[in-house]
Amino acid sequence: MKNVLITGGAGFIGANFAHYIIKNNPDYEITIIDNLGYAGNIGSIKSIEDKIDFVKGDISDIELMDSLIEKNDAVVHFAAESHNDNSLISPWPFVQSNILGTYSVLEGVRKHKKRLHHISTDEVFGDLELNETSKFNENTPYNPSSPYSSTKAGSDHLVRAWVRSFGVEATISNCSNNYGPYQHVEKFIPRQITNILSGIKPKLYGTGEQVRDWIHVDDHNSAVALILEKGKIGETYLIGADGEKNNKDVIEMILSTMGKSSNDYEHVKDRPGHDMRYAIDSSKLQKELRWTPIYKDFEKGLEQTIDWYTKNQEWWKPQKDETEAKYKKAGQ
Ligand code: NAD
Ligand code: TYD
Repeated sequence: MKNVLITGGAGFIGANFAHYIIKNNPDYEITIIDNLGYAGNIGSIKSIEDKIDFVKGDISDIELMDSLIEKNDAVVHFAAESHNDNSLISPWPFVQSNILGTYSVLEGVRKHKKRLHHISTDEVFGDLELNETSKFNENTPYNPSSPYSSTKAGSDHLVRAWVRSFGVEATISNCSNNYGPYQHVEKFIPRQITNILSGIKPKLYGTGEQVRDWIHVDDHNSAVALILEKGKIGETYLIGADGEKNNKDVIEMILSTMGKSSNDYEHVKDRPGHDMRYAIDSSKLQKELRWTPIYKDFEKGLEQTIDWYTKNQEWWKPQKDETEAKYKKAGQ
């Protein structure tokens, strides 16, 4: 397998995946398709532009996807509308990209008999209670809460149906919350770092007791690369690195790492339907494919991420005002 089509490769994880593959699998030929919507940033793949082919286009364009998939051996499908808060204001783009877009990818790989790896999220399982110790695993029933997570759940079901009904050669992974470079400033960690760098107070939704299971984006990507090579067709793998932290602790950690008082933040309006806790049991991936995360120290990974946003202000500054204006309108 050599020619790999990455959908959504100008977004946060897709761009990091392209960088990861170029560094670690230099025999792969990479093509990226991205519609460069608000979350796509061509600057994220600028340093590898001579090593990839970039196509600006929409994954729900069936003819375009058909022709791109025909020319490649495998598709790694990251493209999606990805932000819960946006999905609560305007759900339609989520249905369009996440469900219709995935349908179009599936029809292409079905017709041309190509390998697919579908990227999904742990949010398809809904949430866990704060006061329990159980974690999501591959047998946890689907129970999504938001328009974002329900459209991702829908896309996972489409993939499973295309595997069973049409013999499509696909694998699925559901990963927990990622952090690292090139993440849009609308998301929790980069929003707080860039707020501090812009002289704005960090914003915590509600009480901040909600727990997310943080994983460095490069650990997500090493798992995806492994599943693409060695994953069993038709299987689902959960990806997580035992990084459970509540939002209040993370915001305080960001403030103190950036030399500020750890209580120098504001509580803002909570997210409607806010999921309480996510936690991943990744033992299947660890045992069957021998995957291990490298970024085990969250504080160190966070420091590196803060350093990246501090040094790459020209990357995020153009998106900052518009993002904060949108949040202000929503009372957040
Ligand atoms: P992102 O919003 O940063 O990137 C998504 C990219 O897809 C953007 O570049 C966007 O322009 C592109 N895109 C969206 N709709 C498109 C369309 N119709 N046609 C072409 N391109 C389109 O999101 P991300 O955080 O990089 O997430 C990537 C994938 O990983 C998503 O499928 C998401 O559900 C999944 N995921 C994300 C996380 C996380 O913590 N960010 C965790 C688990 C899974
Ligand atoms: P987010 O990065 O949007 O990821 P997800 O909704 O996929 O988990 O948010 C992570 C957590 O941080 C979530 O519990 C909501 C919370 N949050 C804040 O407290 N303040 C913020 O400004 C944002 C964007 C999120």
